[in-house]
Amino acid sequence: MNSEKVVNAFSQDLTRKLFPRDRRLIPHLNDIYELELAFYENLILSDAEIIRNSAYFAQLGDKYTHHFLMCTGESLKLPDHSSSRLKSFFEKNIFRTAYATHGLFPYRGKFHPQMIKGLMNVMGLKPGDTVLDPMMGSGTVLIEASLMGIKSIGIDASPFCCFMTQTKLDAITMSLARAKGALTNYEEVFTYFQKRVGQPKSGSKPSRIKTTKEAMSVMEETAAYLTKRDHHALTQREQGTLNTYQFLLLAYLDSAGYAERSARKLPLAQFRAILERYLFVAEKIQNVLAGLEMTLAPAEVLEGDARSLSLDDNSTDGIIFSPPYSFAVDYLANDSFHLNFMGIDSDALREIMIGLRGRALSEKYRLYREDMGRVLAECARVLRPDCFCTIIVGTNNNQLGKVFGVSPDAVQGLHEILIDMGAGCGLKPVKVLSRPIIGISNTMRREYILILQKTAY
Ligand SMILES: C[S@@+](CC[C@H](N)C(=O)[O-])C[C@H]1O[C@@H](n2cnc3c(N)ncnc32)[C@H](O)[C@@H]1O
Repeated sequence: MNSEKVVNAFSQDLTRKLFPRDRRLIPHLNDIYELELAFYENLILSDAEIIRNSAYFAQLGDKYTHHFLMCTGESLKLPDHSSSRLKSFFEKNIFRTAYATHGLFPYRGKFHPQMIKGLMNVMGLKPGDTVLDPMMGSGTVLIEASLMGIKSIGIDASPFCCFMTQTKLDAITMSLARAKGALTNYEEVFTYFQKRVGQPKSGSKPSRIKTTKEAMSVMEETAAYLTKRDHHALTQREQGTLNTYQFLLLAYLDSAGYAERSARKLPLAQFRAILERYLFVAEKIQNVLAGLEMTLAPAEVLEGDARSLSLDDNSTDGIIFSPPYSFAVDYLANDSFHLNFMGIDSDALREIMIGLRGRALSEKYRLYREDMGRVLAECARVLRPDCFCTIIVGTNNNQLGKVFGVSPDAVQGLHEILIDMGAGCGLKPVKVLSRPIIGISNTMRREYILILQKTAY
């Protein structure tokens, strides 16, 4: 036995080998892909950039990074009746997902915001540049970009995604006073929405309803603005009222969606708990931003089709997106309550939603490939030469294996298909990272991060 060798090995410190002594990593950095992103951030970012925008460093000398300050501070005070699962999720993911307004609304397939921040850094994006997410979902890229001073454009086919993203962006800066007032009259606000927006299956009738002029004025004024919206620019007060209305509505839809999925708690109790949490997170990020005097970059939310982008050639400095994983998630079925409320024709939307077109699974798969080919060609067109397009995609080989009647290992992974398609449009793979997906390993085992560079123009 060579004990000297063992002791010598133990005397070495991996992070000291990888990073300078004064750059200290964020606590709870557990995955290899996170260490890899931290490694590239360290090589690419200056000291000032580490403080302003790094995702994986907590400290530079005795100065804390903005990411660390945004995530720490008072921990998220969940209401007493919250499940222990929810509490432990927020504790474990404090640096990954539980900051800014990312926690508003539980959208399926949402990115880890910290990973997006790290990726924007390793793609060389800087304040003043423009990043595009052509399938923005709940707007993770836009929120992160805005906090980093990077301009952004987000596009999604679903009007519900546009509403959700805009509301999460507005919550970073809007006045919260009237939404706080509404919390004291939450029963009344809940009933207002329940009457107009529809009843979740297990809808409960609130007991005593007081009428309070202030809470209702938000609703009534908004109804008036919404009708004149297309014709007149809103005044500052009107915009503030509309923001409050949308903030309350997102909390209502969140509680209604939750009630549809679980019979455990009544929607009214959920609504109060969710609204309290929304107010808490929004106030927390607003306080941190005020303390750091950070300037936010503008973010543009557009309803559209990633297969034909309404953007000029060579107009963006970077693209990040996560396509639907073939037909693994039916986004329209998931959001049916919310889409119904918004009066959206789900059948028409189904025709443009990638992964949902077609009937039999084999046809769905063929159309998915066709659609993704068009999306990648559009990405290559709007990206500036030499810039990077990052795609995050999971494997659903188990499902695909069933479609083709072969073993999951015999199926070409979606990540490999997308790499081939990208190469065909002048997007060359420069790095592939991967991470395990915990929790749904029966349908999806790994997620791949494909970093492609525009080379042919
Ligand atoms: C995996 S999700 C994106 C989640 C997002 N990265 C987030 O952090 O929330 C994929 C999104 O693609 C959108 N989508 C599907 N077909 C589309 C199309 N033709 N054009 C634009 N968006 C589309 C869906 O509505 C869905 O929101």
